[in-house]
Amino acid sequence: MIILGIETSCDETGVALYHLEQGLLGHLLYSQTATHALYGGVVPELASRDHIQKLLPMVAELLQQQQIASSEISHVAYTAGPGLIGALLVGASVARALAFGWQIPAIAIHHMEGHLLAPMLERPAPSFPFVALLVSGGHTQLVAVKGVGDYQILGESLDDAAGEAFDKTAKLLGLGYPGGPALARIAANGDSSAFHFPRPMVDRPGLDFSFSGLKTFTMTSWRATNQDATSQANIARAFEDAVVDTITIKCKRALKETGYRQLVLAGGVSANRHLQQTLRAVADQEGFDLFYPRQEFCTDNAAMIAHAAAYRLGDALRHHCFEVHPRWPLSQLQPAKDLPKHN
Ligand SMILES: Nc1ncnc2c1ncn2[C@@H]1O[C@H](COP(=O)(O)OP(=O)(O)OP(=O)(O)O)[C@@H](O)[C@H]1O
Ligand SMILES: [Mg+2]
Repeated sequence: MIILGIETSCDETGVALYHLEQGLLGHLLYSQTATHALYGGVVPELASRDHIQKLLPMVAELLQQQQIASSEISHVAYTAGPGLIGALLVGASVARALAFGWQIPAIAIHHMEGHLLAPMLERPAPSFPFVALLVSGGHTQLVAVKGVGDYQILGESLDDAAGEAFDKTAKLLGLGYPGGPALARIAANGDSSAFHFPRPMVDRPGLDFSFSGLKTFTMTSWRATNQDATSQANIARAFEDAVVDTITIKCKRALKETGYRQLVLAGGVSANRHLQQTLRAVADQEGFDLFYPRQEFCTDNAAMIAHAAAYRLGDALRHHCFEVHPRWPLSQLQPAKDLPKHN
């Protein structure tokens, strides 16, 4: 069985082929960054139009590249939410149309479940149960994961998501869009003792986060400098240190509360090297196992959608109506139906 995965929830068009026994066969990703950079953020209508233009040619290119005939595809999986409604509708309607044309079932996938299970694309893979830290452009959540679809939210951001905080802080420092990776790059050269930012909410019990105050801290710190490259790097470093420390403290707390011994990182911010290295050091010290996907599977991609669908074959639909869910809490998902385990 081969699943075609489609991802169009925001500003990346992704397609992937996942073989139930052989694993991921291949994937393609097109990023719309250049289209949106001009406006300093994602313009939803432009995102939808771009997905329309790119999606079908990318499906054809991937099939050609992998020498797979459409008749070999058993399921089409697509991101049904959360995300931008227009962008989601493009992926959902193309996926459903392909499934209808090829007379195979389609599977609607939750984008964050895709992120959450992405570390299982790697070897060694984590095994259930584990604590997942979802840190992306729209989410910051600590989740107790007992199985596919068995998710208990332990804590989450009360305001900005971690990625959103990276992007907004980068913008304040004049680093353009998308700012997260750019901020991380210059932070590497910053002096960590030049500024000290607070670690929000760590002195309170619980596992919730709040990152929006760090923006104000950035703004006042930045205005008090002569705004040169050195202060830019130092402030970027202070911001990154504050986010990484805060996340690390909460991850340790979540592991303690659940008693689980595995921590899984997923979502765009999990690509942050400083975060990965800090948690790796803590994992070695405290004796828990740490997992995160390779860089290209941290941010949006279709490999994670096709892969998640391999656990959700029991949810495959043959009818032709579909819905997308711009807002869709992860906790609303139902456990996956019992099916033979795939590789
Ligand atoms: N190295 C990095 N350091 C910090 N942040 C990063 C890094 N790489 C990517 N990001 C951030 O990750 C986010 C993008 O991640 P992702 O594609 O998973 O988010 P999204 O799909 O927009 O949001 P969601 O998955 O919540 O719907 C952006 O906010 C980006 O700045
Ligand atoms: Mg995402």
